[in-house]
Amino acid sequence: MNQQSLSVREAIIERRSIKKFNGQPVDREVLLQIVNDAVWAPNHQNREPWRLVVACGKEILELHKLLRDTAIPKWKELPEETLEKQMLKFTLPGAYAFVIVPEDVRQKQRLEDYAAASMFIQNIQLLAWDYGIGSCWKTPDFLDAPQFREALGVKSGERIISMLQIGYFDDIPRAAERKKSDEIVTFFGQNEENN
Ligand SMILES: Cc1cc2nc3c(=O)[nH]c(=O)nc-3n(C[C@H](O)[C@H](O)[C@H](O)COP(=O)(O)O)c2cc1C
Repeated sequence: MNQQSLSVREAIIERRSIKKFNGQPVDREVLLQIVNDAVWAPNHQNREPWRLVVACGKEILELHKLLRDTAIPKWKELPEETLEKQMLKFTLPGAYAFVIVPEDVRQKQRLEDYAAASMFIQNIQLLAWDYGIGSCWKTPDFLDAPQFREALGVKSGERIISMLQIGYFDDIPRAAERKKSDEIVTFFGQNEENN
């Protein structure tokens, strides 16, 4: 399965969101292994507030067709040639994973579940990176489109929070600078207003 076993620190620091994939297929068994490991994310009351709908291989063509025919009306107006190019780009990730969370009517639980699912997603991204597989969390508007939700079997009271594109890549994009700790940390009792 070609795992590299990066340290946690290496995985966190070196992982980048991959937006250009090279078309190499992603093995379903590897994906399932990643998910089996990612579920060890912290989550309140062990609610495990996540489920996934995954498209791999030929299913990605079906997914594109669904988006073209139902979920994204403006795609229908694109000239055939543009659609063809767009479809080729769309099929470059080896897999798509749609992450679905319950939307608890209580705000506290809803926020906890979103937070836990976000950690689950980062686990997926870090574990995938360890296999040399890139990913990007995307939030296109069609995730909330009724036809799309219906096609994925999303029930009322659930929400698709992420379209994860997953796949192999040739180049690692450069990271944007991050703020350093001295910009974001103040120690209790030492903030300027207190002095
Ligand atoms: C909640 C969330 C939503 C995101 N949505 C998008 C998106 O719609 N399109 C996109 O290109 N990237 C999206 N990203 C990826 C970010 O652009 C990316 O994480 C950021 O640029 C930092 O790059 P890095 O992940 O390589 O460190 C999203 C990330 C998060 C956490």
